[in-house]
Amino acid sequence: MNKKRIGVLISGRGSNMSSLIEACKSPDFPAEISVVISNRPKAAGLEIAASKGIKTLAINHRNYDTRAAFETDLHQALMDAQVELICNAGFLRLLTAEFVDKWHDRQLNIHPSLLPSFKGLHTHQRALDAGVKITGCTVHLVRTDMDAGPIIAQAAVAVEHDDNEQTLAARVLAAEHQLYPHALKMFALGEAFVKNEMIEIRAKAQQTPSSKLPAIFSPPLDKV
Ligand code: GAR
Repeated sequence: MNKKRIGVLISGRGSNMSSLIEACKSPDFPAEISVVISNRPKAAGLEIAASKGIKTLAINHRNYDTRAAFETDLHQALMDAQVELICNAGFLRLLTAEFVDKWHDRQLNIHPSLLPSFKGLHTHQRALDAGVKITGCTVHLVRTDMDAGPIIAQAAVAVEHDDNEQTLAARVLAAEHQLYPHALKMFALGEAFVKNEMIEIRAKAQQTPSSKLPAIFSPPLDKV
């Protein structure tokens, strides 16, 4: 199988990265991780990736005077690893339009809300404060605007009456770990593709990867 070479960008604990590492172990998964890069040298995810034999790099944004200079080295490191697709997995650094354009339609991000609701930080507390009854997570293509871009797939998580920020975050995170490999698989296979700034899903694509999942929505167009 011709596997897409993935560069995973992280800033912290890397649990979504771990779920991608697990998925990539499967011989029939259409992607493999070439490099994990963190902008924070102490990110716990770097050690996890290294312990699994994956090439890791820390590119500390604090060592650069400008965003552009940081991104020049980030781009070069991705090119050196022959990365074809970037997966942002808890990468908490805003990227310039120049970098985003270089990786147009080749950079995915996961966000812990049902976009376009609750972009930015503190998503779970804001969802609780707004009184929404359903929240979830989104995998989308990266565009210049933060937490925007064509949506590949979403998973819904019910808000319980006694939820707090931590309990809700934990259930959404569990859904993220299911959703990201699912979305990456569809995109890497070309089952999910961009048309007129929207994602279309080929009719033959799997709608959900397993029955024990939260509700994952990435319906083939002919079933909408
Ligand atoms: C995840 O919940 C991810 O969705 C979020 O950061 C967390 C990283 O956790 N990303 C964003 O908020 C991006 N806007 P992880 O390091 O354990 O994967």
